Amino acid sequence: MNRLTAICPGSFDPVTFGHLDIITRASRLFEKVIVVVASNGAKHCSFTPEERVKMIKKCIAGLDNVEVVHFGGLLADYAAKRNATAIVKGLRAMSDFEYEFQMALTNKKLNPNVETLFLTTASQNMYLSSSMVKQIASMGGDISSFVPEEIKEDIIDRIYIKNSETGVEP
Ligand code: PNS
Repeated sequence: MNRLTAICPGSFDPVTFGHLDIITRASRLFEKVIVVVASNGAKHCSFTPEERVKMIKKCIAGLDNVEVVHFGGLLADYAAKRNATAIVKGLRAMSDFEYEFQMALTNKKLNPNVETLFLTTASQNMYLSSSMVKQIASMGGDISSFVPEEIKEDIIDRIYIKNSETGVEP
């Protein structure tokens, strides 16, 4: 079995500097990294899976060992299908812990060959989230510190509420 393939899963709605930091660091640790845009039943997404894949691809040019895919099924099944032995996730504040712990244990139950590894989020990304980015973009705020230039306009075009109560132009 190939022990050097890792999966970085998430909703990525949209991808942020926080996600990209984890993907980049995982790409240095593993021979191959597969970024999986997966479905989180608890979240309503603003971008289609195809749009999210496209945005991530725009941001990872230069990371030659990273592939980006969409998968609509169970992550544990996808890991088995691709012979991946690790799921790599970023861990932010303590508030992430219980949810991530539950997912890690469930994935282990579903696929005993896969280990979940957590990378500590860089301190500047500790409180960064996709939903925060969307909220700021919707009100015409500057999202340059949170997402790469390559996808900034994609996000504003979709999220900015034209003629919103703020009256602020992005
Ligand atoms: O970025 P998110 O929303 O925290 O990522 C959660 C995600 C998409 C990785 C998780 O919901 C997931 O793995 N979905 C795929 C379906 C699945 O395998 N569900 C069981 C997880 S224990």
